[in-house]
Amino acid sequence: MRFARYDRIVEHYPTMWPLLVPGYVPILTAMHDIVKVRAGKPERLLDLGCGPGSATAAVAPACHADGTVTLVDGSKAMVTAGARLLGDHVADTVVGDFTDDATADAIFIGGAYDLALSSFALHHITDAAKRGVVGGLARSLRPGGMLLVGEEVASDRPAGWDMVERVRARVIHEHLEAGHISREFWELETSLPAEDRLPFLPCRIDDLTSAMAHAGLAVSCPLVVFGSALLVGLKS
Ligand SMILES: C[S@@+](CC[C@H](N)C(=O)[O-])C[C@H]1O[C@@H](n2cnc3c(N)ncnc32)[C@H](O)[C@@H]1O
Repeated sequence: MRFARYDRIVEHYPTMWPLLVPGYVPILTAMHDIVKVRAGKPERLLDLGCGPGSATAAVAPACHADGTVTLVDGSKAMVTAGARLLGDHVADTVVGDFTDDATADAIFIGGAYDLALSSFALHHITDAAKRGVVGGLARSLRPGGMLLVGEEVASDRPAGWDMVERVRARVIHEHLEAGHISREFWELETSLPAEDRLPFLPCRIDDLTSAMAHAGLAVSCPLVVFGSALLVGLKS
């Protein structure tokens, strides 16, 4: 996979993504809420497809004060931004494609983490590849550990009505009209060369739930917001 798309938007990402994806802020907020009510503060975190460290930063107030995170992303610029944001709390950084065996072997270490995050990082890969990644994430949790997956999910179209797509398009249009989405960011996204575009492959919630259950996790889906879902997996 090519990561140029994410390399070039790194500076804009933290302010622009909440404007593009209606479920993004609610899901990161819910991740924090969920970590907060779970017994025990996570100390050892994995953030898969970390971007600029946004999901880790969201849950950090509910984690152990000395907690550390392993940041993983195919975009070097994103990993660098995440490491800058999280400072001394970064245990390790891995720049690589988590669907490649070498990267997967380096990060999916049996029983290494008590909290694994995958936040909006799986929608460019096939459902078969998602199942492999979810299996690796589940393996790498300690007993009692938790996996939080925030992800784009396939939307139904009741009677052919593309409701979710229309709502999302309207939200983006309004942010563009109001000047909230910067011209520079929009120009970067819309001028992306064809070879650097990434496929958009949202999966069905039931498939993601099933992949997590198949990987040995007890699963719940407490939140769905206009085409984005948060799934919680617990390892016994
Ligand atoms: C939409 S951003 C999400 C960033 C962050 N997790 C968040 O919640 O804001 C997707 C990130 O996943 C990374 N990514 C997607 N597929 C990947 C893969 N196969 N291997 C490594 N990184 C990947 C991208 O480079 C990008 O930084």
